[in-house]
Amino acid sequence: MPNYSSAVEEIKARCNIVDVIGSVVTLKRGGSSYMACCPFHNEKTPSFSVSESKQFYHCFGCGESGDVFSFVQKYYNVSFGEAVEKLAAQYGVTIERETTALSRKRAEMLGVNKLAAKYFYENIRKKGNAGYKYIRERGLTDETIKSFGLGYAPDEWTGLVDYLTENKVSKETMTELGLCSQKGSRIYDKYRSRLIFPIIDTRNNVIGFGGRIIGDGEPKYLNSSESPVFLKKNNLFGLNMAKDYIQKEGFAFLVEGYMDMVSLYQNGICNVVASLGTSLTENQAKLLKRYCSKVILCYDADAAGIKAAIRGIDVLKAAEMEVKVLHVENAKDPDEYVKKYGRDAFINLMLNKSLDHVDYKVALIQKKYNRKNNSENVKFIKAVAGVLSSLNPAEQEVYTNYLSKKLGISEDTLLKEINKTGETVREPQPVPGNDGEKEIPKTSKSDINLEKMIIKLSFTNSDYYKTFSKYSDAFVSDSGIEIASELKVSYEEGVDYDIDKIKDYLTEESYTYLKDVLKDTLVGDEKAAYSDCIKRLEKKINDKRIKDINTTLQMLDEMPDNIRAVEDSKKLMQELIELRRKK
Ligand code: CTP
Ligand code: MN
Repeated sequence: MPNYSSAVEEIKARCNIVDVIGSVVTLKRGGSSYMACCPFHNEKTPSFSVSESKQFYHCFGCGESGDVFSFVQKYYNVSFGEAVEKLAAQYGVTIERETTALSRKRAEMLGVNKLAAKYFYENIRKKGNAGYKYIRERGLTDETIKSFGLGYAPDEWTGLVDYLTENKVSKETMTELGLCSQKGSRIYDKYRSRLIFPIIDTRNNVIGFGGRIIGDGEPKYLNSSESPVFLKKNNLFGLNMAKDYIQKEGFAFLVEGYMDMVSLYQNGICNVVASLGTSLTENQAKLLKRYCSKVILCYDADAAGIKAAIRGIDVLKAAEMEVKVLHVENAKDPDEYVKKYGRDAFINLMLNKSLDHVDYKVALIQKKYNRKNNSENVKFIKAVAGVLSSLNPAEQEVYTNYLSKKLGISEDTLLKEINKTGETVREPQPVPGNDGEKEIPKTSKSDINLEKMIIKLSFTNSDYYKTFSKYSDAFVSDSGIEIASELKVSYEEGVDYDIDKIKDYLTEESYTYLKDVLKDTLVGDEKAAYSDCIKRLEKKINDKRIKDINTTLQMLDEMPDNIRAVEDSKKLMQELIELRRKK
């Protein structure tokens, strides 16, 4: 990972936010700041203000605000790291690449994966190979083979091992990448007689492989093992190909299989990604959200596909995305469907048959209970209330009204039932995620000590974790953030925290950190430690808000007369007084 913090300082010194924003938005000077129509929401009169002195922007219409990095992130829809890279390139700032052992290792591994991809690809181009024959039987074209870089692992024991050895790749690296296996002193190819789907990230790195058996056999798919370059939960298959289409269409189809993804893409439905066989993760949802805010889940039409869809809805909703579900008809999966009926039929099916996430869940409940039977009808109503209670308050309002009419249940009853299932009513929570790049980590020693205590307590009792997870800055270090996202998965799946299970999903560095925290952090009186942590978290939030309000107020001073701004400042002043009082 590159070291951004010195580049960030350098960029701040060299670049002027007014130039950066001014190159894409027409700015008008007003007093000592600049005004424009906000690029982040629709408006006719300007309420977007840019302060040269503060190097800060704020929209008094939609509340969007930040510095030059957040502007670039938001405007170009890129990650923090990408924003830094972009500005660095523009302003001639060099980014120091960390030359830690890990990043060197990663670079080496990516190089090896690229070689392996080349080997597989060359093999599928050879005359008369079984992989090519199979793939053509399944209707994929030469163009698809080329654009996805599909490949073939021949039926040989050491084809790839020999090729990589010739290219001076060590046995350890091949093994770590899951390209080969070792038995005693014997080392042999793991992918044999398989069709190869290279998994490529959005920076065009080959991070792993999925290998499908030619014809029938077990296991049907062999996937790369997790390695420093391949964390399944952070990637989506096909995103490298689909991202521009997804952005253009404003939504994505999310499918289960490699084949579904490739096949839809070949048939002109290019805004599609696959979730790599696992159930959808929070990080995958966040990754997708960089490109669109709507998803149509299009999983297989079997029981497993339905279960995955229900889980998928919740994960995507937690990432605050709009979700619909579509199950294909008269075909086992989207691949088969689009081959049988074609692109237009698929699009029509989507337009006519995809269900809003609430309708989808309710339809499943309707299938389960016979409402003519009183006791089943009671269960039915309770289940509907259960669906409603998982929604955020605004959705709850809208859907309670809608379902009450649609299903003939009084709104009053639904509301009462919702409130009874009270424990499950939750607002969308700021969740600690793996997007460590988002904020410039300026972590003080006391923040780290707080984090350690929080991790330790979270491992002691999952209820503690639940409360901590509501604070967006409870976990501050890169390792802390990574650990938190694993804690979240364990919490949601209702399994006990188990360091050995979590281990596989953490980088070496984070794992060491976690081990040390659990060993060295002393808690003393658990309850007292817990409330002390909460107190400190609350204080952090207050401090940050006070700082933000101060900046905004200073900007307001510089603004031309503007009624809305006057109101804004009064409200902000009041809030500030309140916050200072608390302090
Ligand atoms: N999968 C896996 N390991 C398996 C089976 C499935 O990783 N043993 C993952 C793969 O990513 C696969 C997806 O789950 O693409 C969906 O599985 P399935 O529907 O069985 O495969 P398809 O992609 O539909 O493949 P095909 O059409 O070739 O049967
Ligand atoms: Mn399938």
